[in-house]
Amino acid sequence: MTDIFEDLPDRVSIYEVGPRDGLQNESAAVGTVLKLRLIEALTRAGLKRIEITSFVSPRWIPQLADADDVGRTVRAEGGVVYSALCPNARGLERALVAGVHEIAVFLSASETHNRRNINKSIADSLDVFRGFIPSALENGMRVRGYVSTAWGCPYEGDVDPARALELAQVLLGMGCYQISLGDTIGVGTPLQTRRLLERFLGELPKDKLAMHMHDTRGQALANVLVGLEMGIRTFDAAIGGLGGCPYAPGASGNLATEDLVYMLDGMGIDTGVDLQKLWEAGRLAEALVNRPLPGRVHRAGLRSLKS
Ligand code: HMG
Ligand code: MG
Repeated sequence: MTDIFEDLPDRVSIYEVGPRDGLQNESAAVGTVLKLRLIEALTRAGLKRIEITSFVSPRWIPQLADADDVGRTVRAEGGVVYSALCPNARGLERALVAGVHEIAVFLSASETHNRRNINKSIADSLDVFRGFIPSALENGMRVRGYVSTAWGCPYEGDVDPARALELAQVLLGMGCYQISLGDTIGVGTPLQTRRLLERFLGELPKDKLAMHMHDTRGQALANVLVGLEMGIRTFDAAIGGLGGCPYAPGASGNLATEDLVYMLDGMGIDTGVDLQKLWEAGRLAEALVNRPLPGRVHRAGLRSLKS
C-alpha cells in the first residue's frame, strides 16, 4: 500500500485571496480603510502572498471599485507580495499607477463561464492577454495566471481537462510564472483531482502549478491533500472562507485559510503563518462583512485543550 504521507514537504506557500475573491462577492459595502485594515491583519499573521483587489471594471465588480486607492496605499515590505487581478490593458495601466508589483490574469476552461465573466471568448481573451502581458513583464511585474472552471462549469457541466491544460500551457508561454487551477464552483472530488493533476504533471513542472479550491461542497481540503501528495506546493485560500464569483452561480467560499493552516500545522508543514493571529484576522473579516463566515476553524476556534 502506498503511504500518502510518505513524501510531504517541509514548507508550503499560501496565496491569500480573501481581500479580492472574498470581498468581490459580498453584498455589504466594505470601506477602503477597513479593507486596508484586513490586509494589514493578514500580513501581520505572516501571509507572504496576498491578492488585495481587482483592476476590473467597477461596473462589473462594484465591491472593488476602490482598487486604485487600495493598490496605492498598500506597500510591500518584508518580502510580502501584494497582487491584484487584471483583465486587460486598462487594468494594467491602473496597476502600474498604483504601484502594484504582481498581477493575475484570469480566464476559464469553459467558453460560457469565460463569456459571462469577462465578456469575451477564450480566444479573444488570450489575444487581450497577449496585448498587455509583455508590457507588464517589461515593467518588472510578475504575472500569475488563473484557469477557472477546471473541475467543472456552472453552465456547461463537465470540462475537458485537456482544454484546461492547453490554456495553462499558453499562459505559461506568455510569461506567467505560475498557473492557479480553479475549482470555481467547488465541485471537485479527490479522485477527479488526482486524475486532473496527473494530466497536468505529465506535461508541466510541479512548481508552475497552484490549486484554488472553492469549498462549496466541503471537498476543498480533501482535494488539497491529494495535491500535496502529488507535489503541489502552493494553495490559494481565503480568510474565514470568504469568496465566490458573482458570475458563477453556486460559487461560494474559498477554502478557509485557517482550515488550511490548521491542517498543515498539524502535519508539521511550515506555512510561516501564525494561526492565532490568522484567526483574529478572520474575526475582523467577519465583522467587516457583517455575516457569519463559514470557515470551520474560524467557527470552532483553535484547539486549546492545554490552556
Ligand atoms: P467589457 O464591458 O466587455 O469591457 O468588460 P470593454 O472593454 O468593452 O469596456 C467597457 C467599459 O468598461 C469602458 O468604459 C471601459 O473603459 C471600462 P466606458 O467607456 O463604457 O465608460 N473598463 C474598465 N474600467 C476599469 N478597469 C478596467 C476596465 N476595462 C474596461 N480594467 C471586462 C470586460 C473584462 C472589463 C469586464 O468583463 C470585467 O471587468 N470583468 C471582471 C469580472 C470579475 O472580476 N469576475 C470575478 C473574478 S474571476 C474569479 O473570481 C475566478 C477566480 O477566483 C478563480 C476561480 O475561482 O476559478 C480568479
Ligand atoms: Mg475564486
